Order: sequence, then C-alpha cells, then structure tokens
Amino acid sequence: MSFSAVILAGGMGKRTKFPLAKVMLPLAGQPLISHIVSASQATRPNQTIIVSRPDLVNNLNKNFPNAQIAIQKKALGTANALASAKHLITSDYVLVLLGDCPLVTTELIEKVTAPIEGNIRVVGFDTDHPTGYGRILKAGEFVSEIIEEKDATEEQKAIRCVNSGIFYIRSTFLFDMLDKITNKNSQEEYYLTDLVKFSDQSELVIASQEELLGVNTLEDLAAAERLIQSRMIKELLNQGVLITDPQRLTLQGKVNIAPGVIIEPNVIIKNSEIGSGSHIGANSSIIDSEIANDVVILDGCVINQSCIQSGCQIGPMAHLREKVNLDKNVNIGNFVEIKASKLGGNTKAKHLSYIGNGEIGESVNIGAGTIFCNYDGKQKYQTIIHDGAFIGSNSALIAPVSIGADSLVAAGSTITDSVAHQQTAFARARQVNKANKNADIES
Ligand code: UD1
Ligand code: CA
Repeated sequence: MSFSAVILAGGMGKRTKFPLAKVMLPLAGQPLISHIVSASQATRPNQTIIVSRPDLVNNLNKNFPNAQIAIQKKALGTANALASAKHLITSDYVLVLLGDCPLVTTELIEKVTAPIEGNIRVVGFDTDHPTGYGRILKAGEFVSEIIEEKDATEEQKAIRCVNSGIFYIRSTFLFDMLDKITNKNSQEEYYLTDLVKFSDQSELVIASQEELLGVNTLEDLAAAERLIQSRMIKELLNQGVLITDPQRLTLQGKVNIAPGVIIEPNVIIKNSEIGSGSHIGANSSIIDSEIANDVVILDGCVINQSCIQSGCQIGPMAHLREKVNLDKNVNIGNFVEIKASKLGGNTKAKHLSYIGNGEIGESVNIGAGTIFCNYDGKQKYQTIIHDGAFIGSNSALIAPVSIGADSLVAAGSTITDSVAHQQTAFARARQVNKANKNADIES
C-alpha cells in the first residue's frame, strides 16, 4: 500500500532548556531526527515529508535532500503540524512519525504500515513510567481516546498504556477530520491524538518502550544515547568484535568494524572502517578514517581523516590530525603529530615529531624530535623525503625542501637546502672542546 511518511519536527523543544533545536541535538553523532528519517526511508515510502520550524528549513533541506520540507509557521500542536504538510501529501495513507522519537526500527515501521481495515492505527507501549506521555483509553481491543498528561485526571494518569505518537492513517479520513480538531485543552494546542475520537475502530499496535522512547529533555536524550549505543554494540559483539568493556565504547555515525577487531575501553569511533585483526587501544578516538587489517593503535591516539594500511603500529599518544596516509607497516610512536602527509611502507617516526605537508618514501627513518617547518606565517610548504633516507634526531627541515634517497641528515641539523641522494648533510655548529672547564667561552 502506498504511504507518505510525515515526520513532525515543528515544535520548539523548550523542555531541553538547550539552545540547539531539539531535533538537531546529537544522538550517536548524528542529529536526533536523522535516525527516524533513515528508519523510515529504509521502508521506501512514496515520499518523506518533514514538518519544520521556519528557522530550521535550510538546515533540514541540506541534511535530507531526499525529503520534502513543509513549514509550520507556529507550533500550535501536532495536528496543526500535520495540517501544514497536507498540501504535499500524495498517497492514500499517511505514516506519522515524530522527530523526537529516534529509536524506531524499520521492522516496526513495516508492521505499522501493513494493510489496514479501519481509518487509523495507533502505536503505543506499556510502561511503568508513563509521565509525560498521552494515556491510551481503550474500548475493547480498540483505542477510544488519547488523553494528554496535562489534561488527564488522577485516575487516567494511572494508566500505563501510552501513546508513542506514531500513527498510520487513511488520507481521506485525515483530510476530512483535521479541520474538526480544536484547541480546547489545557495547552491550547491542536492535538493530533484527538483524531481517534472521530474513528470507531482505531487499531492499537503495541511495541517496546525502548523503541518508542520520546526525547523531551536532555535526560531523555542521555537515555536514548545509552539505548542506541547498546543496540549498536550488541550487534558488533554478535559479529565477532571483541569489545572489552561495552559500556565504554562510543560509536557515532556510520561505523564498519570487521570481526576479529579488539577494542579497549574509552574508545570513540566515528564514521570509520576498521579491518580484521586490528587492535584499538584505550582512550583513542578514530574519526572519519579507514584502518586496514592488522593495525595496532596503542593507547591515547587521536586519528582523524586518515587512511592507514595493514601492519602499521601507532602510538601511544600519537595524533594523526587530518589527511594522513600511511602505507603498510609504518611505525608511528609517542607524541608524534602528522598532518596532510603520506608515509611510504616501513617508514618509522617513533618519537616526538611534527610531520606536516610531507611526502615521505619507503623505509625512511625520522629521528626523535624532527620537525617539519612547513609554515612561514603565510603559506604552507611541502617537504619531500625519498626512500631509505635517515633523518637524525632533533633536525628541523625548512620547507620547501627535498631529501634524496638513502641520504643522511646529521642529528641537530637545520636543513634549508635540498639534499641529493646518498649525500650526508651536516647543518649545525661545530663543537669546540676546551682544555679547562672554566675557559672563557667567548675566546
Ligand atoms: C506527543 C503526543 C503524546 C505522546 C508523545 C510521545 C500529542 C498531542 N501528544 O506528546 O500523546 O505520548 O508525543 O512521545 O500529539 N511538533 C510539531 N509541531 C507542534 C508541536 C509538536 O511539529 O506544533 C512536533 C515536535 O517537534 C516533536 C513532535 O511533534 O517532534 C512531538 O511534539 P511534543 O511537543 O514533544 O509532544 P509530546 O508532548 O511529547
Ligand atoms: Ca515529545
């Protein structure tokens, strides 16, 4: 059956007390609303419509190019939000989803959009903590009414079956009834929940509370984060990823981790891929990066926008800042920062270096304390080091400069001129030894 998915996100989200719009708050590293958009689009609706506040339209258009945006001028309630999308709806059925209800799965949406006999299907859940949700009043197996918390009597507040906010509605019925909803309630809002009053047989589908959690406060957001993390982490554990302390791993965005990877505590992985046999040490962050098989990342590394080939060892406490490419079996040690650089296979930089705008060949040794001086205050310049070169400790390479294959730069050198292949470059003051330790150092 053809249906249009309409995601309501026109509310003000005041209960979060946070300056960012509620549906844009981060959940697993992505805007809250993006989770429900993805789950719904996976079920291939005819169209996806997001009802937006006027100030979020550009943002939503940019983030969701496959969705149509309807503008709700003022947050007058969920029925008014849906009315704002009416002119865009082209299908026989409407699936109403809430922008602040992020944990809904594609499986549940498929169940909710199964063929329907009556006019409306309500999705609810049973909970021991119904506060804040609309209570579902039943007549036999059907829903007779939904009463909002603020309009409920004490007796109604005791009801544990609550409304998730998700509905599946016959479009003709919706279009006829939307205008009949009034705002005569304690919040003076047009409640979409009032629709059930106009239908004799409103079906009820019950799902789990975990899937239907609504985010109204930052405490709810934290609960949603915990749930979504444990859902993703459970999946990885079942695929053969060894996570030593699952509560202390944070996954954000799209993450692809092969079976056979070991992940130690307090790791953050965002929009990255990690190949089989790799080991991610404690307290490391891996962001927008590709890590091949059998890579060892020791504790405390920050790896951003980088591509690391198999057999590399990195850290502890190394920083691959952005656009770093490491070929096979590269060894990067502690307190090494690398930016916009390529390092060839078997190259080593094991201690205390800055490598910026470098193009480094294979089997190069970069000694402790080597600095690529890539910036003159205005522009960045390139340093090229060819295969097999040996850069002695505490060298400064003033870019632009090139160091030839199998050449040697003596420790402590400040290299301002390029070095040809197999040359040895000394660029440091000659040591003078005096006979008497009290000798006049000026003479
Ligand atoms: C709503 C339901 C409630 C249900 C709960 C589930 C109504 C009247 N109440 O309450 O029965 O138990 O969700 O989480 O529907 N929105 C708009 N425009 C508006 C108002 C809201 O687009 O004018 C959007 C919000 O951005 C949000 C969603 O609709 O994404 C729900 O609004 P919210 O104010 O959070 O409703 P609840 O009080 O949670
Ligand atoms: Ca809500």
